[in-house]
Amino acid sequence: MIHPDEGPDLQVIPRVTPGPTPAAVAELASYYGNGAALANPLLRANMVASADGATSYGGRSRSLSGPADRMLFTVLRSLADLILVGAGTVRTERYRPVQAAEIWAGLRPGDAPVPPIAVVSGSLALDPDSSLLTAAAPGAQTIVITTGTAPPDRRAAIAKRARVIEAGNDRLDLIAAVSALRGLGYRSILTEGGPGLLGHLAAAELVDELCLTTSPVLALGKADRVTKIPSAHTERLSLAHVLHDDGFLFSRYRRE
Ligand SMILES: NC(=O)c1ccc[n+]([C@@H]2O[C@H](COP(=O)([O-])OP(=O)(O)OC[C@H]3O[C@@H](n4cnc5c(N)ncnc54)[C@H](OP(=O)(O)O)[C@@H]3O)[C@@H](O)[C@H]2O)c1
Repeated sequence: MIHPDEGPDLQVIPRVTPGPTPAAVAELASYYGNGAALANPLLRANMVASADGATSYGGRSRSLSGPADRMLFTVLRSLADLILVGAGTVRTERYRPVQAAEIWAGLRPGDAPVPPIAVVSGSLALDPDSSLLTAAAPGAQTIVITTGTAPPDRRAAIAKRARVIEAGNDRLDLIAAVSALRGLGYRSILTEGGPGLLGHLAAAELVDELCLTTSPVLALGKADRVTKIPSAHTERLSLAHVLHDDGFLFSRYRRE
């Protein structure tokens, strides 16, 4: 059981207003460190899981979400300089560039109206004609992060549409990838998963924060957990807050 008086950083909020009014958005953003609180480089993960730990249902995560989770999704995107996502999620969730209408302009950390999407892919099995690669807003060109040994024909086709970053030769080096993104000026990085990418990021000790929505459903089945990686590794997290709305829990964990 969580008591509101357990520490200065622990807050239990009775209810997140579900309607995306400017006041509700500003209140929600205040729990996730807007403005000066994001001055330091940050790699934050945002994931949703069912009460029994599934991160997808029928191959997608949409049915685990709800109004307040969707609002949090847009708030965290608005606070980010860049969105980092695995190629598996791009393929299954049919990712497209972030639209200005999906972003709360007043929360943007810099001058860029929308954060670009950066995709991690070793195989480069990505559709070069997809809107993700062809329809990004000016200043938010999609980035594809891959290895030096990725298939050259695929790389050439993608490089006509997106910025390609090489991180590692035989194996993708996520430490080098994040360092390259920081070198391009992206300080506040939001990863939206999926479990494969998040597992590799966590194993490389690159994840500073995990924002985890727990959805009030049992999904059963064999869906992945929030992280998927063969090697075992435990890391202690501290709980910054828990919010709740309509049975959904919104936990913000920090790596100690
Ligand atoms: N519940 C949630 O919040 C949430 C969020 C996102 C996704 N999802 C769900 O998760 C599923 C997709 O997740 P996933 O785990 O299969 O895929 P993923 O993590 O999105 O992407 C995995 C892919 O990313 C590339 N990659 C990531 N790390 C790499 C590394 N260290 N080295 C080389 N390549 C790397 C590889 O791409 P290549 O194969 O191209 O080499 C790999 O196959 C979908 O069902 C989606 O709906 C749920």
